Amino acid sequence: MVLETNRIILRNFNEQDLDDLFEYAQVEEVGLNAGWMPHITKEESKLILNMFINSANTFAIVYKEKNKVIGSISLEKDHIRPGVNSKYLGYVLSKDYWGLGLMTECVKKILEYGFFILNLDIITVSHFKENIRSKRVIEKCGFVYEGTLRKSSLLYNGTLKDKCLYSLDKIEFINNN
Ligand SMILES: CC(C)(COP(=O)(O)OP(=O)(O)OC[C@H]1O[C@@H](n2cnc3c(N)ncnc32)[C@H](O)[C@@H]1OP(=O)(O)O)[C@@H](O)C(=O)NCCC(=O)NCCS
Repeated sequence: MVLETNRIILRNFNEQDLDDLFEYAQVEEVGLNAGWMPHITKEESKLILNMFINSANTFAIVYKEKNKVIGSISLEKDHIRPGVNSKYLGYVLSKDYWGLGLMTECVKKILEYGFFILNLDIITVSHFKENIRSKRVIEKCGFVYEGTLRKSSLLYNGTLKDKCLYSLDKIEFINNN
C-alpha cells in the first residue's frame, strides 16, 4: 500500500532504507521521546528494519523533495483496547525535519487509511507528558484526550514517564473532516 500527501509518500520499508533509518534513529531525542534507546550500531537498525518490513501497517515516511526516508508511522496492535477493532498509532521523524508540519500531514493521511481502508472503529495514540510537539500533532489531528497514566513508562535510562492517552473514533473523524 502506498499513500501520498503534498510533501510525503508513505510506503512499506525495504532493505535499501537501512542507511536512512540508522541516520535518524541514532539521534537521542528521536528515540527518547518515543521510548526507545537510540541506535548505536547499524545492526540494531537492521533488526528494527526487518520488523518494519514484516509489518503491513508500518510505513516509511519518504520526503518527496529529497527522495529520502525521514521517519516511520504505524498502526499497531492496540493493547489498551483488547478485542476491539482498534489500532495504536505510533510515529517518529528525523530531527532535521521537525517543526515543518510534516507529521501532522502524515497522521491525517494514516487516519484516513485506518478508518476507510482498514475500517477501524477507533484509533489510540499517546505521548509522554513533556513531549509538547507530539501533543500538538495529536491535537491538530482531532484526537480526544482520555487521561494520563502517571509513572507508567520506565525508560531505558531509568526515568519514569507519565503517558497522556487519546483516541479518535470513526464518527469523530468523519465529522471533523
Ligand atoms: C513529535 C514529532 C513527530 C512531531 O513532528 P513534526 O513534524 O515536527 O510536527 P509538526 O511540525 O506537525 O507539529 C509540531 C508542533 O510542535 C510545535 N513546536 C515546535 N517546536 C516546539 C518546541 N520547542 N516546544 C513546543 N512545541 C514546539 C510546533 O509549533 C507545532 O505546533 P503548531 O502547529 O501548533 O505550531 C517529532 O518531533 C518527533 O519525531 N519527535 C521524536 C519522536 C516522537 O516524539 N514521537 C512521538 C512519540 S508519541
